[in-house]
Amino acid sequence: MTADLLNIFEYEQRARDTLAAPAFDYYASGAHDGLALRDNRAAYDRLRLAYRVLVDVSKRSAATTVLGTPVSMPVVISPTAFHGMAHADAELATARAASDAGTIMILSSLSNTAVEDVVAAAAGPVWFQLYVYRDREATAGLVRRVEAAGCEAIVLTVDAPRLGRREADVRNRFHLPEGLSVRNMLPDGYGDVSQQAAESGLAAYFESLIDPSLSWSDIAWLQSLTTLPLIIKGIVRADDARQAVDAGVAGIVVSNHGGRQLDTSIATIDALPAVADAVQGRLEILLDGGVRRGTDVLKAVALGAQAVGVGRPILWGLAADGQAGVARVLSILREELDLAMALAGAPAIDAISADLIAKVP
Ligand code: FNR
Ligand code: LAC
Repeated sequence: MTADLLNIFEYEQRARDTLAAPAFDYYASGAHDGLALRDNRAAYDRLRLAYRVLVDVSKRSAATTVLGTPVSMPVVISPTAFHGMAHADAELATARAASDAGTIMILSSLSNTAVEDVVAAAAGPVWFQLYVYRDREATAGLVRRVEAAGCEAIVLTVDAPRLGRREADVRNRFHLPEGLSVRNMLPDGYGDVSQQAAESGLAAYFESLIDPSLSWSDIAWLQSLTTLPLIIKGIVRADDARQAVDAGVAGIVVSNHGGRQLDTSIATIDALPAVADAVQGRLEILLDGGVRRGTDVLKAVALGAQAVGVGRPILWGLAADGQAGVARVLSILREELDLAMALAGAPAIDAISADLIAKVP
C-alpha cells in the first residue's frame, strides 16, 4: 500500500528503502559526478512561470497525440532496462499500467520480458527502443520481431555508443540477478549480463556487443528494415535535430539518457528551445530527463515538446508496488499537471504556450 506517498520523490525514497542496493544504485546512477543527472532537474527549478489569470479553467483536458497516437496526457514511459530487478511482474506490470493510464510504453531493448509478451499484456500502444548490436543480422531480426509483435514505433537510441561510467555499478560489479536476462536477445546468445566482468557487467556487455560505429548513414539501413515510424533518441543539438529532419524520421527525443552517459551534458530542458527552433515543426519532439513534477511537464510543452518521457519515476513506482505503483506514479503526474494547467490559465494542451515561461531579468 503506497497511498501515503504524495509525490515522485517519496516514491524514490521508498524504492531506496525497498530495493537491493546494487539494483537501486543501477537505477539511480548518473555518470561520473552526476552533474548532468542533477542539472536535468535543477534546470526546471531555474525556470519560472508567468501564469495567466481570469481564464475559465472549469473544464480541463491534458489529452493530446504523439505521432498521431492519442494519449491522455503528454507523458509517456521512457525506455529503462531490467524492470525485473524492481518487481517480479517486471515489464508486464509497466505495460498494463501504461495502457490503463492511456499512454505509451517505450520498451527497452534490454527488457527482462520478451517483446511479444509485453505487447500481449498491454491493451494500448507499445513502442520499442532499439540498441544496434555489432551483429547486424541479429539486430535486423530483432526489428522484424518487434514489428511482428505489434509495436507501433521504433525509438533508436544514439547517445550510447559506449556505456557511460556509473561508478556505483563499477564498485558493485553490476550484473543481473539469477534468473534475469536480456530476454529479447537470448535466442541470439546475447542474453547474459554477467558476473564475470571485473567492473560493471553492463559496461562490458556494451563494449563487446553494441555497435559504436553507428552513424547517420545507418538510418537508411534501419528504415529499410521496417515500415514502422522511426524516432531518434538522445539529441541535444540543433544541427543534429536538422540532420534528423533531413533523414526523414518521424520524431526525436531530446535526451541525455537521464544523465547516465556524458557527464556535464546540457540539461535537456535547456537544450529544447534551440532544437525546437531548428526543427520548425517538421517532426515531433519528445523530451526526457528530470521530469518529476506537473510543472516540469507544463514547462517542456511550453518550450516545444509534444510530450515528455519519464524513466526513473516508473521504476520507483514499480519497486514500491508493482503495477499499482506505476499507476499511482502516473496519476500523481496527471494530477499535478492538471493543477498546473488550472493555475497557469491553460486548460488545454494547445494553450500551453512559450509565454508562460517568465523572462526573469
Ligand atoms: C535508462 N535509459 C535508457 N534509455 C534507452 O534508450 N534504453 C535503455 O535501455 C535505457 N535504460 C535505462 C535504465 C535506467 C535504470 C535508467 C534510469 C535510464 C534512459 C531513459 O530512457 C531516459 O532517457 C531517462 O531515464 C530519463 O531521465 P529520468 O526520467 O530518469 O530522469
Ligand atoms: C542504461 C542503459 C541500459 O542507461 O541504457 O543503463
